[in-house]
Parts: sequence; C-alpha cells; structure tokens
Amino acid sequence: MDVRIFNSADELADAAAQLFIETINQKNDAVLGLATGASPVPTYKRLIEAYKAGKVSFKDVKTFNLDEYCDLPKNDRNSYYTFMHEQLFDHVDIKEENVNFLDGNAADWQAESKRYSEAMAKVGGIDIQLLGIGTNGHIGFNEPADEFTDESFKVTLTQSTIDSNQKYFGDTPMPRYALTMGIGSIMRAKKILLIATGESKAKAIAGMLSGEVTPRLPASVLNNHADAVIMLDKAAASII
Ligand code: GLP
Repeated sequence: MDVRIFNSADELADAAAQLFIETINQKNDAVLGLATGASPVPTYKRLIEAYKAGKVSFKDVKTFNLDEYCDLPKNDRNSYYTFMHEQLFDHVDIKEENVNFLDGNAADWQAESKRYSEAMAKVGGIDIQLLGIGTNGHIGFNEPADEFTDESFKVTLTQSTIDSNQKYFGDTPMPRYALTMGIGSIMRAKKILLIATGESKAKAIAGMLSGEVTPRLPASVLNNHADAVIMLDKAAASII
C-alpha cells in the first residue's frame, strides 16, 4: 500500500481531488466509485472548484456509489443519493443517467446486487474507488465479520456504526439495514484511494497497516490490492 501522510485535512483533500482530476483528464469517461460520510466532503468541494475553474469535466464520467440505506425514500434528506447530489453531483456537469446507486428499497436485494454488478461490469469496472473508513474498520458498510463478502449485499448495521451515524438523523431513528458493495466488488476497482482524518480513525488505521488481513477489520483487505493509496492526516496516522 502506498501510504501518504499530510499535515492537515486540507492538504489531504487537495491531493485526493488531484488524483481524481488526473484520472478523469486521462480518461474522460472514467468510472468513479464514490463514498459518503464526512471524510470525502472537502475532496468533493475541491472537485467542484476544479470543475468551475474549467480544470475538469464530468460530462462523460460514470459513478457508482458504495452503499445506500434501506427503508429510506430515495429523496430522503438523509439518503446517500441526496447526500451525493448536494455534495457533488448538483454542482458539476455529470449526467444523471451516469449516476448509479444501489436501491435500498429494492424488494429483492439479491436481484438488485446482480443488477449493480452487471452495470459495473458493462462499463468496464471501476477505475478509481474512493473509500472512507469506519471507526471499527468498515469500508462501505462492510462491517467486521467472519468472512469477506464478494458482491453487494444487505447488511445489518452494527451498534458502533449506528452510534457514529445517528447524529445525521437527529431525533428520527436511523435505518438498521443498508445495501453495500461487497469487499469483492470494492477490490475489483483498478485503483483504490482510502482517506482518513482525525484521531477517531487512528486505531482502525493502525490495525489496517499492521499487515494482518482479517474480515474482523474489513479495510485490512486493501493490503491485498495491487494499487491502493492511503491518504492520512497526522491525527489518523498518530499510532501507526
Ligand atoms: C459510513 C459510510 C462509509 C464511511 C463511514 C465513515 O458508514 N458507509 O462509507 O466511510 O461512514 O464516515 P465518516 O467519513 O463520516 O467518518
């Protein structure tokens, strides 16, 4: 893994956005795997600025998001669909038909998983996958488990994830289930960029970089990827 440590979250976001801009400028119809959460927001801000400055265009770019909550209307203010539109898509020239999400309300999640895998394969797979990391080492919504998953699946969220994400839902109880790309789908991306900032991620990062690959710490699987870049701020790197 190519580990890069930055003095600040701002410097990290500059570098992360730059990697995406280079990918898109080399291949105008690049396929991006995208993530939600607080971590990628500064990176998305810089991509919007770069688009407005004429440095990058999303005209032919395709995107696949990692995950989506179940039992939440698509346009709910807390859905990841809404999040991505507010944080990125509404501010750049991406075409709505090129934006892909798992449907958290699909009646048959297995059929939905198959549809998503086929859609990814049809466009030649993901060129660059952006990942955050949960405090328990989850990526997407692949929670610590006994085995690594492969294709997208329906997950029961752990209490630690619920505790971390409930704040976005205020007084409304947050969903207990989500659909997420599996570890296999994530690992099939040609390049992976994991970003982590802040002390709360330090333990998960140290575990991931210890070298042991275990589904108890899902992000550790990135040790097996041929082109994984890990960008950390000093706080996230504080105990490696
Ligand atoms: C959620 C998302 C993950 C994300 C994680 C960390 O659970 N499903 O993709 O990486 O939160 O979020 P944050 O960046 O807000 O710490």
